[in-house]
Amino acid sequence: MEIRVGIVGCGVVGTGTARMLIENRNLIRKKTGIDFRLVKVADVDWSRKREFHVPEDLRTTDYREVLEESDIVVELVGGTDFAKSLILEAVERGRHVVTANKHLLAVSGEEIFLRAKEKGVRIGFEASVGGGIPVIKALREGLVGNRIKAIYGILNGTTNYILTEMFEKGVSFEEALEEARRKGYAEADPALDVDGWDAAHKITILSSLAFGRYFPFEEVYVEGIRNVSGLDVELGKELGYTLKLLAIAKKVDSEVEIRVHPTFLHSEEALAKVSGVYNAVMIEGDFVGRTMFYGQGAGSHPTASAVVSDIVDIGVSVYRGVSVEITPVDWEKSDLSIRKNFYSRYYLRFSVPDRPGVLASISRVLADFNISIAAVLQKEMVCEIAGVKNGPIVPLVILTHKAYEKDIQKALGEIENLPVVVDKPVVIRVEEAS
Ligand SMILES: NC(=O)c1ccc[n+]([C@@H]2O[C@H](COP(=O)([O-])OP(=O)(O)OC[C@H]3O[C@@H](n4cnc5c(N)ncnc54)[C@H](OP(=O)(O)O)[C@@H]3O)[C@@H](O)[C@H]2O)c1
Repeated sequence: MEIRVGIVGCGVVGTGTARMLIENRNLIRKKTGIDFRLVKVADVDWSRKREFHVPEDLRTTDYREVLEESDIVVELVGGTDFAKSLILEAVERGRHVVTANKHLLAVSGEEIFLRAKEKGVRIGFEASVGGGIPVIKALREGLVGNRIKAIYGILNGTTNYILTEMFEKGVSFEEALEEARRKGYAEADPALDVDGWDAAHKITILSSLAFGRYFPFEEVYVEGIRNVSGLDVELGKELGYTLKLLAIAKKVDSEVEIRVHPTFLHSEEALAKVSGVYNAVMIEGDFVGRTMFYGQGAGSHPTASAVVSDIVDIGVSVYRGVSVEITPVDWEKSDLSIRKNFYSRYYLRFSVPDRPGVLASISRVLADFNISIAAVLQKEMVCEIAGVKNGPIVPLVILTHKAYEKDIQKALGEIENLPVVVDKPVVIRVEEAS
């Protein structure tokens, strides 16, 4: 049996996918009994040098040829406009689709999955989260019998590289970003990564799969790492914590917390040890307990590996008639909404003068909002704060027990106005993920 595969977008991932389909075609045929034949690859520019030479007879500049000739259409263009219309057009024509486009699926996934369901075609999206890590497949198949309780993910390699450099070498955010750029881990415009959007796209997709309905992307709480200071990384380290950009999806009663923000994890936790450009996802199910998936979250070959796994999956299950598909939409009928009032531990850092009574006045306000203190760290080091000249200013760190986000924000609003607090307080959430 032969299945015809076409790719639109021959860039980083498209080239890797074409290469894998051509170089490992016999291997895949031996394993599955199906011949997955690459029939067409569309790209707007064939003059650019690529890591793999796509045979001339497969090339086109017209994506419609791919739609015409393929059973499975692989969208690897990226972006949300053309990619969306391409996928919907493929679906209308009864083609199965594979995509790595997390941005598109986070914002328009519901529409795409529902349309595909109506038309009886499949959308493969393993490569949209965690690059080469088969985490979508794990949620859909390996963990299918579980009620998912929580997902914690390090889902963006660029930010994990930057935070690892800051933690291990004591460099600033800007220095670490520059190094990430030099090594090709960060884009010229790194906003999607460092401002947390890429991780937010991915956790939105995972949440939908885990909890059975699409959550509006604009309601996801997103805070990136651009304002993370070396001082907090250092002070956290002294307290036994490692800073990560953590994507969290957690079921709490009839609500789901979906959030991405810099997070302190105890340095002994498995996720805290995930360093450099690596990604990892911890999934907690009611029967399985906690499981962790680790690997390369991006790059041409790891991502191609995930794309090809979807192609084969669709080929084997659909064309052999053994398809049981868990889609990210529509299986959970209860009303799950996004919870904004998180319940978490907090690291709070205040810049204060080094004199008696300061801690007492801050802790009084915290107590007023039912926030209980777990630990206090005051350093003798002096902070330079623009515009503040009166006496030495030192960092005062307070670790809280679990508290509600709303109470923390209200307390900080009051503390900020205390005469002893000379700069905006720093707030970093603290999680126990494993
Ligand atoms: N790179 C990764 O490691 C990675 C990992 C996971 C997921 N992804 C996702 O995979 C997708 C592709 O990413 P990528 O890194 O491979 O991007 P890329 O290198 O920019 O490749 C996209 C390719 O599509 C071409 N293209 C643009 N418009 C087209 C059109 N109308 N018809 C045909 N081709 C067109 C682009 O050509 P021009 O450059 O000439 O415009 C480019 O060659 C994105 O959704 C991305 O988020 C990437």
